[in-house]
Amino acid sequence: MLVFPSGFLWGVATAGHQIEGKNFFSDWYAWEKLGKIKNNDTSEIACGSWDNFERDIKALKELGVKTYRYSIEWARVEPRINKFDKDSLLRYRRFTERLVEEGIKPVVTLHHFVNPLWFSELGGWENGENLRYFKRYVEHVVSELGDLVPIWITINEPNVYSIMSYLRGEWPPEIKDTGRAMQVLSNLLYAHSEAFDVIKERYPASMVSVTCNFMFFYPARKFNLFDRIISSRLNHFYNWVYLDSIISGRILKPLGRGESSPKIKGKLDFIGVNYYTRIFVRNARPEPEFPEPSGEKTDMGYEFYPEGLGEVVSECYRRYKLPVFVTENGIADATDQKRWRYIETALGSLHQAIEKGARVMGYLYWSLMDNFEWKEGYSMKFGLYETDFQNLVFTPRKSAEKYAELIEKNALGD
Ligand code: NOJ
Repeated sequence: MLVFPSGFLWGVATAGHQIEGKNFFSDWYAWEKLGKIKNNDTSEIACGSWDNFERDIKALKELGVKTYRYSIEWARVEPRINKFDKDSLLRYRRFTERLVEEGIKPVVTLHHFVNPLWFSELGGWENGENLRYFKRYVEHVVSELGDLVPIWITINEPNVYSIMSYLRGEWPPEIKDTGRAMQVLSNLLYAHSEAFDVIKERYPASMVSVTCNFMFFYPARKFNLFDRIISSRLNHFYNWVYLDSIISGRILKPLGRGESSPKIKGKLDFIGVNYYTRIFVRNARPEPEFPEPSGEKTDMGYEFYPEGLGEVVSECYRRYKLPVFVTENGIADATDQKRWRYIETALGSLHQAIEKGARVMGYLYWSLMDNFEWKEGYSMKFGLYETDFQNLVFTPRKSAEKYAELIEKNALGD
């Protein structure tokens, strides 16, 4: 039996836009309506969580989670520039109070891929001047919720956001430009630093970090110099540049010219890790058929490689010597045939990382329920609970029962 440290923060994670519905003033919603999403889905209804958070709380209680990570939608809090919506803030406050009443520790994300439409129209994250708007939004959220929230994630996956929205152009605003993507990533460093300061000024005891997506790149041909160089560069850029910049207080290449930026230095209380898979590279391209052509895949088409979680966590701890918090880990698996094996294996590797010395605060499964998976719409099923999108009812999958048992025992296995 693998026992986890006492006080280990077991939980699940979601994000506002993916579950709430009716996030009408957001850039994503405007874009979805142009027919950009698989099956022409939109987030209009999503899981209906905005109007029925008690259903979500009930599921969280059934699981017995110690903590819940969710996000605040800026487009709800400030639907028009400078017009803050008190009711939305109050709704988030009531929800957060309910979690606290139930003994569930709130972990709040301030930015999870989605912007108010007005912010995008002003140039979004490309324009450094716009950081002041983000700061002001954070001030409002912190005034409303700060007394209830012990752990904050400022920005969710800045690496994924800049790549998908500005480099690959697959998400709004659909830009494909390396220079602009770098500009965005660098502005997101300052955004994090501003938010960190706002929170710490008022609530110095709270813990604040960002969450990055980690995906290790490997050469498909082990002895091919080109594959090796490319995968090592990709590792550097994808996994480390953003965090190294904060830790060192230098905006690192390829983010900038390596200029020193004392303002951002050291502003992390822990490392937020989102982990799903790894990737092999051949001729500078991802090679989906590695390491074996018939390897097991998830519904997203990712390699089924849960044991990479422990590798990522060990490496993060080795590099930064800060506690690591697994803020997301999960699998899209409509049949629920693979999910528990995925979780169990991931947790086995995480336990090993802990035994080898890594300090790990907790583990959050993505996600509580099936929800709006961005460009994939509702087709990808990450949930411990199955969502009936017609009637907005949740049904626990087998994996939900197993996860509840695990949390109860604080241990894996018998
Ligand atoms: C990471 C993102 O933060 C989340 O929004 C997304 O749904 C999951 N990965 C699954 O792809």
